[in-house]
Amino acid sequence: MIDRRSFLGSFASAALLAHARRGPASAPAPAAAPAWPPPVFQDDEAYWRTLRREFLIPPEEAFFNTGTLGSSPRVVLQALKDDLDLVAGTVAHWNYKAGTPDYISGYNPETDLRTALATLIGASPDEVLVTQNATLGMNYVANGLPLEPGHEIILTNLEHPGGRMGWELKAKRYGIYVKQVTVPVPPSDPQQLIDLYVNATTPQTVVWSIPHLTSGQAIRFPVERMCAIARERGIFTVIDGAQMSGHVQLDMKKIGCDAYYSSPHKWLLAPAGSGFLYVSSEKLPGVWATLASATWDDYKAGAYRLMQIGTGNRSLLKGYAAAIEFHNRIGPARVEARIMALANRLRAGLQQIPQVTIHSPTHPDLVSGTTVWSLAGVPASDLMDGLWTRGKIRCRSMGDPLGVRQCCHVYTLMDDVDRTLATVRQMVRS
Ligand SMILES: Cc1ncc(COP(=O)(O)O)c(C=O)c1O
Repeated sequence: MIDRRSFLGSFASAALLAHARRGPASAPAPAAAPAWPPPVFQDDEAYWRTLRREFLIPPEEAFFNTGTLGSSPRVVLQALKDDLDLVAGTVAHWNYKAGTPDYISGYNPETDLRTALATLIGASPDEVLVTQNATLGMNYVANGLPLEPGHEIILTNLEHPGGRMGWELKAKRYGIYVKQVTVPVPPSDPQQLIDLYVNATTPQTVVWSIPHLTSGQAIRFPVERMCAIARERGIFTVIDGAQMSGHVQLDMKKIGCDAYYSSPHKWLLAPAGSGFLYVSSEKLPGVWATLASATWDDYKAGAYRLMQIGTGNRSLLKGYAAAIEFHNRIGPARVEARIMALANRLRAGLQQIPQVTIHSPTHPDLVSGTTVWSLAGVPASDLMDGLWTRGKIRCRSMGDPLGVRQCCHVYTLMDDVDRTLATVRQMVRS
């Protein structure tokens, strides 16, 4: 069984290390590189129980709404709070000389953070820009591509507004055509999803905008296969990965997309206001900046050219970097495996209850850590409230007929899954 002290000790030593690197208040040093020793790990529930204590959510509450906003671990909150204090307390020492860190973000390329993100998603730092969320990433792409009247883009009827409206704006302002394909809920297999896009494509189609995981129905798209098909036809691919960073392992080159955006304040457990956009080095020069400040037209600056937001909160980025370190410390493969083990147990249990309908896919290639399900005769909102009042289980209502969305994550224990199933059975009886 993992020893809590050694587990926490490694976080504490990381904090000490960061402090030592930072030096005296007058000379804040650049963000600390990850230097934690490898974690002590035993692949059993005890490890996850220990990890669970790193979160502020009370132990009796089971949180399953990561799809909206993740809960950051202590180490992330501490990094953010420490830096807020440091900035406020030592801002008078900022002398703007070369080699001293900025007290704000927005006017430097944030190379450390972009490198950490690039490593996480299998890209080069020059291809990654830091945004505040997925919505910004998608708007930068929709707005930045030089599209003209007659050009057609394909997306689905299940997009989150953050994955759709940038295209709608472009259509209204510039006369492009947004074509919507209707996705069966749930789809039976990946080919069905591929065929939707292929069959809708015409010679005018220039972009496929694809959700990696849809928000409300948790349908996982076969993005790798779809991007390969699009590439053969010269179609630009942009993936809405809002729900996927910190959830599944990501490799941009393997997916083969031209652009990918996400909201790491969900599954990567970064502070709210943490996003990224990837644009492949091949396609990056063809994307116009949406926001312009000093470096908007410097094509040697890589993706930093698209990061011209003016003054930002650097402490938020410290928290963001700490979230990536936390995730890496557990290990992206282990996180994904744990999430899938929990979600598979949940789905298997729900399938044993005749009154439950699972609306998210059950095909093994289309599943994720998120399950959307309903209970016969119980409106979605009542189901959400019933789970909370009876079992302190926080799911999110997706409205009728979908029911509730339940996202399993590293702060979920197997007991939480079992408590969900017991509570549903109780609701069926009463
Ligand atoms: C699939 C999908 N796309 C885009 C978004 C928008 O994310 P954000 O509000 O962080 O920009 C969400 C948020 O839930 C989402 O689930």
